[in-house]
Amino acid sequence: MWDIDGNEYVDVLNGFGSNMFGHSPQFVVDALTKQLEQGYEVGPQHPLAGELTQLICELTGSDRAALCNTGSEAVLGALRMARTVTGKNLVVAFNNSYHGINDEVIVRGTKKLKSMPASAGIMPGAVENMLILDYGTDEALQIIKQHLHELAAVLVEPVQSRMADFQPKEFITQLRAMTQEADVALIFDEVITGFRYAQGGAQEFYGVKADIATYGKVCGGGMPIGAMAGTKKYMDALDGGMWQYGDASVPEAGVTYFAGTFVRHPFALAAGVASLQHLKTQGPQLQQQLNAKTKGMVEQLNAFCYALDLPIAFTNFASLFKMKYKHEYPFSEFLFHLWRMNGVHVLDGFPCFLTTSHTEADVQFIVDAFKKSVNELIALDLIPHKKTTNGQAKTEPVAVTKKVDVSKPPVPNARLGKDPQGNPAWFVADPARPGKFMMVQQ
Ligand SMILES: Cc1ncc(COP(=O)(O)O)c(C=O)c1O
Repeated sequence: MWDIDGNEYVDVLNGFGSNMFGHSPQFVVDALTKQLEQGYEVGPQHPLAGELTQLICELTGSDRAALCNTGSEAVLGALRMARTVTGKNLVVAFNNSYHGINDEVIVRGTKKLKSMPASAGIMPGAVENMLILDYGTDEALQIIKQHLHELAAVLVEPVQSRMADFQPKEFITQLRAMTQEADVALIFDEVITGFRYAQGGAQEFYGVKADIATYGKVCGGGMPIGAMAGTKKYMDALDGGMWQYGDASVPEAGVTYFAGTFVRHPFALAAGVASLQHLKTQGPQLQQQLNAKTKGMVEQLNAFCYALDLPIAFTNFASLFKMKYKHEYPFSEFLFHLWRMNGVHVLDGFPCFLTTSHTEADVQFIVDAFKKSVNELIALDLIPHKKTTNGQAKTEPVAVTKKVDVSKPPVPNARLGKDPQGNPAWFVADPARPGKFMMVQQ
């Protein structure tokens, strides 16, 4: 990526996880170009809609699939299907999960099992049919058991993007058994995990089949998309079930309403088909290699953090990784800024993603830029770290080691800035170049 000043970055934000194959992969560009030439009108059913939903079903092992524009819409549709089929209202979801921007899922739970909107502008009534519990706990399983008779669904973010290293297999296995027996829909929100961990997403990881799964991001190849896929029993609530012209068949299931002007947009369909075809032809090793690449990078980053006893740990699941502070300390936000200034496109606190287009050199660049950023903070004593007996941090030699006393200007009216290597340095007005500054050599 290049910013408007021409600075170059390695992107690890990657469209919030929607670019699993890097920026503008050729096979997606080709599919979009072809569609652009053919036209992109919406309205009539597009032949690619059938192709894409078939690919989704094939790769995820679902009976049926339907499309929409975003992950949030997919979650909305999944909840609506679950309530239509079960005839019940209450839905369990979990603290720390993210399910998009619908009112109902921007919610926080209390220990007394009250649900409250987690953002301004959401009416308390909007979340009154949500029961919010702690993810992966025995207590949550007990509470779910007590409420099974009144539940329409349990909505799960199977590996929470905010806690990527928490993968509660036993909890999920028990939850699946419990919901199956009670005829409660188990909804896996696979908007991030879908097609990323493996073709079968987090369901493959946990070895369970959800009743409904929601998708987005990867399956749109960078175009706006959402999808719901699952068992016939629930998916039929969108269209009444299979029927055809020319015989006596009719849609028999009770249906709910779900629609949108741009649902099944030709660009999203073309990019989606190209992406899933790519996954299909490359086979499972695509994800296996990408996951291993991410794990290797996270191990390198963690080894560095550990050696310096930094209050930082990296977690990952598949190609998602996240930097987390183990505890609060002043100026903790500086590290994101520095990492970005050192050429890595990150956003404070957001999950990051590696893609199939990141090379080994890119990975090394990301790691080196992180080390450089940490060392810059160490040089300014702005990050807690292990000190050696001589007071210096025990650290690998990285370019940035020069220590400048930033507490007082070396000459009157000097201003603090950075030298060309990014180290802190003092500057004074340059008499030869009005309006410009020159570095004070120390
Ligand atoms: C797990 C999960 N569900 C739902 C969503 C919402 O998807 P969208 O932003 O496409 O509406 C997201 C978005 O990041 C997500 O991570």
